[in-house]
Amino acid sequence: MSGKNDSEFFYPSEEVKAQANVKDYESLYKRSIEDREGFWAERAEDLEWFQKWDKVLDDSNKPFYKWFVGGKTNIVHNAIDRHLKTWRRNKVALIWEGEPGDVRTYSYHALNREVSRFANVLKSMGVKRGEIVTIYMPQVPELPIAMIACAKIGAAHSVVYGGFSHEALSDRINDAQSRVLVTADGGWRRGKITDLKKIANNAMKNSPTIEVCITVKRTEHEVYMENDRDFWYHDLMGLPIASPKCETEVMDAEDMLFILYTSGTTGKPKGVLHTHGGYSVYTSTTHKYVFDIKDEDRWWCAADPGWITGHSYIVYAPLINGSTVMMYEGAPNHPYPNRWWQMIEKYGITILYTSPTAVRGLMRFGDSWSQKHDLSSLRLLGSVGEPINPEAWKWYHKVIGREKCPIMDTWWQTETGGFMITPLPITPLKPGSATKPFFGNEVAVVDDAGNEVKAGEVGKLVLKAPWPGMARTIYGDDERYKEVYWKEFEKQGWYKAGDSARIDEDGYVWVIGRIDDVIKVSGYRLGTAEVESAFVSHSDVAESAAIALPHELKGNCIHVFAILRAGMSGSKELEAELKNHVSEVLGPIAKPEKVIFVDSLPKTRSGKIMRRVLKARALGQDEGDLSTLES
Ligand code: WTA
Repeated sequence: MSGKNDSEFFYPSEEVKAQANVKDYESLYKRSIEDREGFWAERAEDLEWFQKWDKVLDDSNKPFYKWFVGGKTNIVHNAIDRHLKTWRRNKVALIWEGEPGDVRTYSYHALNREVSRFANVLKSMGVKRGEIVTIYMPQVPELPIAMIACAKIGAAHSVVYGGFSHEALSDRINDAQSRVLVTADGGWRRGKITDLKKIANNAMKNSPTIEVCITVKRTEHEVYMENDRDFWYHDLMGLPIASPKCETEVMDAEDMLFILYTSGTTGKPKGVLHTHGGYSVYTSTTHKYVFDIKDEDRWWCAADPGWITGHSYIVYAPLINGSTVMMYEGAPNHPYPNRWWQMIEKYGITILYTSPTAVRGLMRFGDSWSQKHDLSSLRLLGSVGEPINPEAWKWYHKVIGREKCPIMDTWWQTETGGFMITPLPITPLKPGSATKPFFGNEVAVVDDAGNEVKAGEVGKLVLKAPWPGMARTIYGDDERYKEVYWKEFEKQGWYKAGDSARIDEDGYVWVIGRIDDVIKVSGYRLGTAEVESAFVSHSDVAESAAIALPHELKGNCIHVFAILRAGMSGSKELEAELKNHVSEVLGPIAKPEKVIFVDSLPKTRSGKIMRRVLKARALGQDEGDLSTLES
């Protein structure tokens, strides 16, 4: 990003400014920093509590911060129950369209009935407060219904993205020690069935803790069901136990709401843990302020609920804010590249929130697909997952937003629960910058010693103060939580985001990308270690190193350098076989773009693979400091 882009502002229109929920960023930001607890207490008061908190922030055991201590709540009370007492009872909560074109809608009243019925089913299966239910599903309404049903009865959910392999699923079930798995026979993607139940069956072979598997019928193809373990969702929902009345469990603010696995620097995925209280307050506030949520909005976050973006901004925040949520099952370009634009027109979507990779993917098909449609209902756009390149930003702004919709480029992470650095609708925008910290947050870019670098210089992104939506720990591994996020700047008490960034003269933050061994492919997060261990699980491979290289559509793609076992030689066929192997072990998103067979890998004297050297070589760049390279 050149200096030229830095100075190029896009100003919001008077119309956008006039209706914005927040009219003055600077003064509210100042207030939120000077009196952080007061600011968050006020936001928390917008929600209903069974019992008010005694203390807003307990920082007596850093970095294990607690928020709204002593408060009693349940996210479902705010996401559903309280709306039932108002006119919103009859408001549309969820509009869902399947890829084949089938449509289902739920009012808040209807959603409550489904959630309550499934909550009673879970109870009848012995699901208890505090236990973790694993959910592995396509994008169908039963996915949010199952999540909310767990939360309602005080169980936690662990949603595993429907694109993951049986091994990834089984690892996650085992880490969470889940007894109950909720899945579906399959889902639709580009006219084809993804056979989720088959994958789930394979996963359960290596996951002995599962006693009950509940399967939603979606694609209706033949699947294997095991006696005494497997139940059809619709059969259970037809039983008298599935009554539409179910009490919402009273939870402590700090009780576990969910864990969500995400990739880190080592092979084992981390179960990032979020809680009922702080997460409710943080996600709903960020959603309301950043996307300027109004009752008449139709909100579409086109992510998969299996990722944090979906948890926070398809399911919880919009429902807490009483929004009408759009959800779509399939691919954006099926059967044609106008599928999304067609749905925006048909449902009168007012806000679209998606990823740079989706924008680039649709941009590829040209302007005419969207021009066929009336997109005048749109008033705001959003982006998340990776830096958005200015070219894609401008296309999104001009062709989709018709130059009247500001783009909210929101920087955040699974661990942060909600938006951390983001514009508001009133913010003058610079394409490619996530602009400024959200209220209550203090952001800095520092060098290894923790000194703030000069404006425009690149350094490590840190968050200097706690916020209510922060992860509480890594499930079952407090030490790892400390080690990964808090150790490097322990003295200062800062959270290390793992991203590199720079802040320009106007105080705008430009996130560059990961500094650790995490690769972002199409906005999805993968660890180099996961890819490498998938590689060496193939009998022909002795050692491997995975790196991310820039890719026009995906943002990044994976290249793997592989050393083969003695006697083996590389070939096109083996490259194809290895790519498929990784796709099977980890899921299709991890499939490498290229496999390069090598005889050795650059390593430090202590034996660590120097991936940056491989990357520099692949890009034809200077290899940098090689003093630690083993000779
Ligand atoms: C990247 C996704 C630039 C970043 C919500 C972060 C971004 C990682 C942006 C977290 C953005 C997310 N601009 N980079 N607007 N949003 N990232 O946990 O590298 O899947 O650390 O959460 O995505 O990925 P995660």
